[in-house]
Amino acid sequence: MSQKPLNVGLVGGGKGAFIVQPHQKAIHSDGTRRVTAAALFPDPKVALEEAANWPYPIKGYGSYDEMIAANAKLPADEKLDYILIVTPNFVHYDPAMKAMKAGIAVFCEKPLCMNLQEAEDLVKTSRQLNVPFCVAHTYLGHWTSRLSRYIVRSGLLGEVRWVDSYYLQGWLATRLEATGQMQAAWRTNPKLAGGSGCGGDIGTHALMQLRYVTGLNVTDVAAHLEMLVEGRPIDDHFTIYCKLSNGGKALVRASQICIGQKNNLGVLVAGTKGTLQWRQENPESLTISLPNQPDRVYSRGAVTPGDGFLPKDVPADLMAEPTIPAGHPEGFHDAFARLHRCFEADVRAWKAGKPFKCDGAKYANVEDGWMGLAFIETCIKSSAAQGAWTPMPKCV
Ligand SMILES: NC(=O)c1ccc[n+]([C@@H]2O[C@H](COP(=O)([O-])OP(=O)(O)OC[C@H]3O[C@@H](n4cnc5c(N)ncnc54)[C@H](O)[C@@H]3O)[C@@H](O)[C@H]2O)c1
Repeated sequence: MSQKPLNVGLVGGGKGAFIVQPHQKAIHSDGTRRVTAAALFPDPKVALEEAANWPYPIKGYGSYDEMIAANAKLPADEKLDYILIVTPNFVHYDPAMKAMKAGIAVFCEKPLCMNLQEAEDLVKTSRQLNVPFCVAHTYLGHWTSRLSRYIVRSGLLGEVRWVDSYYLQGWLATRLEATGQMQAAWRTNPKLAGGSGCGGDIGTHALMQLRYVTGLNVTDVAAHLEMLVEGRPIDDHFTIYCKLSNGGKALVRASQICIGQKNNLGVLVAGTKGTLQWRQENPESLTISLPNQPDRVYSRGAVTPGDGFLPKDVPADLMAEPTIPAGHPEGFHDAFARLHRCFEADVRAWKAGKPFKCDGAKYANVEDGWMGLAFIETCIKSSAAQGAWTPMPKCV
């Protein structure tokens, strides 16, 4: 029997906002979730106007405070099942905290919040209240990221000795923020973005990709946060040498000043038996290199267990997906859709009073968000000490 779609409330997304667009397509992609309400802009008048002009009918609110408060009085079938926070980083903590306390699950953009103290509060509250929480690390949602995770974590490449996880962009190679460009303006303002610009914005994606695929944590960092565009008050170039929890090493690097680089996120995992490479700009395949053999390129939808490298018992839930045949390309929006789909399953279980996973296997959770902030703060400390090795704190 078909189920009633989940109701999703947006926090942010009005007036030319960026990341709300792929999210709302992803929310609607299965017909089992829909946006029903929104607080789209900081100015209440504009927020209501934007909601009234939204491409499909939604209930507009002047602020997220109003939207969350109103929820308690709505009939059961109109209540929000989760909120999606797509505001700049300084407006993540408050709506996330208020939503959890009002019994609403949270899907929050990355980085989780502004600092480690806020991150600790969010972790503690989500645990105390047992509320599902997703942090939008988009690239985990590619099927090939799932396959990469399986390959590396099941030991098919041996022990991981080295990881190069990177995210290179070029859009901030000049002072775009000086033109008033909305996305550049808040990202280069430490009061709105947090202690690290480039690191918080895209270095956290590179860290998450490393952790997701390998299952390893960063234990110590030697960091260089640099401002390569003159007059910028926050890093636009972020280079971190890392020690990993298995004794291996890694480079987590991000840059916004590499002219011509668009969204060049990728990961190279070098194990004692072989190497895996994956890039999000070509997300439908990954490459495995084994000694003295031609490279093996695995394409989504055309993978055969028991092929001489993959064992016969590749997990059924990995192989059951995706349903769209190989060669019909999936991309960025599909990755978002997979995150919302997996989060929906946990929200439905939670609402039915059943155990839910939220364990980081299918999307980043609040502890992963905490790890992003711990990484940023540790890198800032290390960079201030000219790149001295600095240990990561332990999760609360
Ligand atoms: N997961 C990804 O791949 C990805 C990609 C881009 C951005 N992001 C993250 O998404 C978030 C938003 O980034 P963006 O580029 O879409 O920003 P944006 O500037 O394009 O949009 C932000 C929106 O939030 C609104 N807003 C600000 N304060 C508000 C408030 N108090 N109440 C309601 N609305 C408010 C703005 O008016 C705007 O509509 C950031 O945290 C960013 O790091 C993630």
